[in-house]
Amino acid sequence: MKQSMTRITVTALTLATTLTFSNFLRAGEVEVLHWWTSGGEAKSVAELKKILEANGHKWKDFAVAGGGGENAMTVLKSRVVSGKPPTAAQVKGPSIQEWGREGVLTNLDDVAKGANWDGLLPAVVSNVMKYQGHYVAVPVNVHRVNWMWVNPEVFKKAGAKIPTTWEEFAVAADKIHKAGFIAVAHGGQPWQDATVFESVALGVGGADWYNRAFVNLDASALNSPTMEKSFATLRTVQMAIDKDAANRDWNLATAMVINGKAAMQFMGDWAKGEFTAAGKSPGKDYICMPAPGTKGAFTFNIDSFIMFEQKGADAKGAQRALASAIMEPQFQEVFNLNKGSIPARTGMSMAKFDQCAKDSSAEFESSAKSKKLVPSWAHGMAMPASVQGAMFDVVTQFMNSSMTPKAAAEKMAAAAKSK
Ligand code: GAL
Repeated sequence: MKQSMTRITVTALTLATTLTFSNFLRAGEVEVLHWWTSGGEAKSVAELKKILEANGHKWKDFAVAGGGGENAMTVLKSRVVSGKPPTAAQVKGPSIQEWGREGVLTNLDDVAKGANWDGLLPAVVSNVMKYQGHYVAVPVNVHRVNWMWVNPEVFKKAGAKIPTTWEEFAVAADKIHKAGFIAVAHGGQPWQDATVFESVALGVGGADWYNRAFVNLDASALNSPTMEKSFATLRTVQMAIDKDAANRDWNLATAMVINGKAAMQFMGDWAKGEFTAAGKSPGKDYICMPAPGTKGAFTFNIDSFIMFEQKGADAKGAQRALASAIMEPQFQEVFNLNKGSIPARTGMSMAKFDQCAKDSSAEFESSAKSKKLVPSWAHGMAMPASVQGAMFDVVTQFMNSSMTPKAAAEKMAAAAKSK
C-alpha cells in the first residue's frame, strides 16, 4: 500500500512537472517572412530553420524574392490587413515603429529580460528594436553597406589601381573599360541605384553632411552643392556600368565580379555571402574595401525580425523559442558567417570570421566613436518609408535620364517632404 502511494505521488509529480515543462516548451509552427533567396542568403536562413527544428518546432518558410525587400513588404501588408500575420517578419529600422503603432506586435520583454538583451546589444541596436520602451523585434546582424567588392585579377589585367577616391575611380574605370572588362557590376533596380548613390554621397560629402541630409532631412543639405557633386559623381559610376544592367538582380551582378567579367561592385556585405557560397577567399580571390572616400565611416543596416501577436499557446511558445534562438551566440555566429555580416550581439568571438568581417567589426566600434557611424537610408534605417520611396524615385530617374545634378538635388529636397 505504502509503496503504491509513493508511486502514485511520484507519477503525479512527474505529470505535473512534465505539464509545466511542456507548457513552456510547446512545440508549434513558426511562419517566417523574409526575402533571403540568393545563394548566400538562403544558406543563412537555413541555419535558423535548423535550430528551430532541432528544438521540435516546425518551420514554415515564407520567402518573397526581391532584393531590398520591397516585394516582401507589400505581401506582408496584405497578410496583416487580412488578419493573418505570420509569426515573424524581416522588418527593420524606423519601420518597426510604424508597425508598433498599428498595435499588431507582441511584447518580447519577458524573453529579453531573461536573456539580458539590454546588456548584450549596443544601444544603437536595442533602441531600434523597441516600441515605446518594449522589445518588439530581435536583431540578427549588422551589415555594412559602404563596401566595394573587387576582383584583383581584372584590375591587374587592365593595369589599373584599386581606387580610394572618386577621382581615382574615374581613371581606373576608364582603363578597365579599355581593357575590355565591365568596370562596375550593377543591377538597375531602384534599391540598388540608391545603394550605390548612398556610398557615393557619403564619400563625397562625409558623415556630418550625410546625417544632415538623410537623417535630419535638412533642406539646405539636400538641395546643396554637395548633393549636386554627389549626383555628378554618380554619373561617372553610371558610365562604368554595362548596357544590360536594367533589372539585373544584385547577386547576378556579384557573380560578374566573382567570374572576372567585371572589376567591382558597390554593395553591402550580403555580397560577401555570395563570394563565400562560391568558395572564394577574401584577400586572395577578391578584395573588400570601403567605397572610395568612405574609409573610417560605416553605413549600418541591421536586419531584424518583428514578431506579431499570436493566438494559442503552441504558436506563442514557438514564437518565443524563435526570438530567443535568434539571440543565441550559436545562431549569431553561424548565420553571420554565411550572410557576410557581423553579429548584432556584442562580446562574440570573431575568431572564425574572415578579415572583411573583422574589419567591419573594428570599424563599427571606431566609427561610433568618431561619429562616422551612419544609418543606411537605402536599406530602411534612416527615414520614413514614404520619404525613402520618393528619394529612390529621384535617384532612379536620374540614372535613367539626362537629368542635371542641380535638378536632382532640388528633387531630393522636395522628396523629403513626402512624409
Ligand atoms: C537588404 C537586407 C540584406 C540583404 C539585401 C539584399 O535590405 O538587409 O539582408 O538581404 O537586402 O536582399
